[in-house]
Amino acid sequence: MSEQTPPIERRSLGASGVSVSPVALGCWPIAGVSTLGANDADSIATIQACFELGVHHLDTAHVYGPSGESENLIRRALGNRRNEMVIATKCGIHYEGDLMVTDGRPERLRAECDESLRRLGTDRVELLYWHAPDPNVPIEDSAGALRELMAAGKTRSIGASNCSVEQLAVFQSVCPIAAVQMPYNMLQRDIEAQTIPWCREHHVAVMVYWPLMKGLLAGKLQRDHQFDERDTRRNYPMYQGDEWRKNQDFVEQLRGAAALTGHTVAQLVVNWTIHQPGITSALCGAKRRWQIEETAGAMGWTLTAAQRTLIDSAIAARGPAATKRLFS
Ligand SMILES: NC(=O)c1ccc[n+]([C@@H]2O[C@H](COP(=O)([O-])OP(=O)(O)OC[C@H]3O[C@@H](n4cnc5c(N)ncnc54)[C@H](OP(=O)(O)O)[C@@H]3O)[C@@H](O)[C@H]2O)c1
Repeated sequence: MSEQTPPIERRSLGASGVSVSPVALGCWPIAGVSTLGANDADSIATIQACFELGVHHLDTAHVYGPSGESENLIRRALGNRRNEMVIATKCGIHYEGDLMVTDGRPERLRAECDESLRRLGTDRVELLYWHAPDPNVPIEDSAGALRELMAAGKTRSIGASNCSVEQLAVFQSVCPIAAVQMPYNMLQRDIEAQTIPWCREHHVAVMVYWPLMKGLLAGKLQRDHQFDERDTRRNYPMYQGDEWRKNQDFVEQLRGAAALTGHTVAQLVVNWTIHQPGITSALCGAKRRWQIEETAGAMGWTLTAAQRTLIDSAIAARGPAATKRLFS
């Protein structure tokens, strides 16, 4: 077997001319809101590790941290290497005190974009998402504001997150969409029915969050794991009662499949995800260097047909997991 590093794979962000790695770093955990033990030194080391791992896409948001902790850490970590990274941020949800508030009014989107650029220490990002629809604001108004931000050169492309295909169609009638961001993993595959076909038809990239189901599919949480009271994962149905037991049985099967590949469970899960039809990139959250080092190892190889069949039958036997939609 060759000792050479495999060529770094890149995939297109729709028709934007921007390309991204199939594994991206999700920068929500480093905000330190939903996860325990985040600290600046480890967060910066995690981001900086991406350069050598072939992970050239960072996903953040205006609302990742009450004071923009995630965007500020990205600026500090990248320093003068900012142009080597494709940065995506999101506008349309912000903090008010301890609460996350959805606000898609054009003036709010413009202000959040400007603040994100300041925090990131850049004059434009490669991708700016509409974080989520605001039921109080016509979609056309939010889309028009984002189109203007792109025309003003503040972002190279526009994305949309947490929306139905009907909402995507309205948005796209005003502003071209390069990427859609939705939850997706082995046990949460709703987007296969409508969103992925819509994105294929419109040449839009599909960026998926929760590929590890917030850590559950990384295979390291044991059956008797006691969640700290501050660990917000304990509020999700997949971490409770019968769902937790079924998910642990499923992870046990993944351990067997992973052993056949010579990779870890997290690498197997992310590899499967980035090779699913229509998927562009998996946004893998991490707050420690070793975590992104491990998930980056999902790139550069493929499952055999027999391994894939084994995994697909375990997924079919488990069926979709109970989940609760959350914007983070
Ligand atoms: N558009 C939206 O509304 C939206 C919503 C959610 C997320 N996102 C984006 O998608 C990204 C991914 O979502 P996520 O971070 O919530 O979930 P995720 O990627 O499914 O899981 C991340 C968690 O898994 C654990 N983990 C990571 N690598 C691991 C490894 N190698 N071994 C064991 N555990 C590992 C870590 O938890 P511990 O360190 O706590 O163990 C980490 O916080 C986010 O960071 C964000 O950029 C977007």
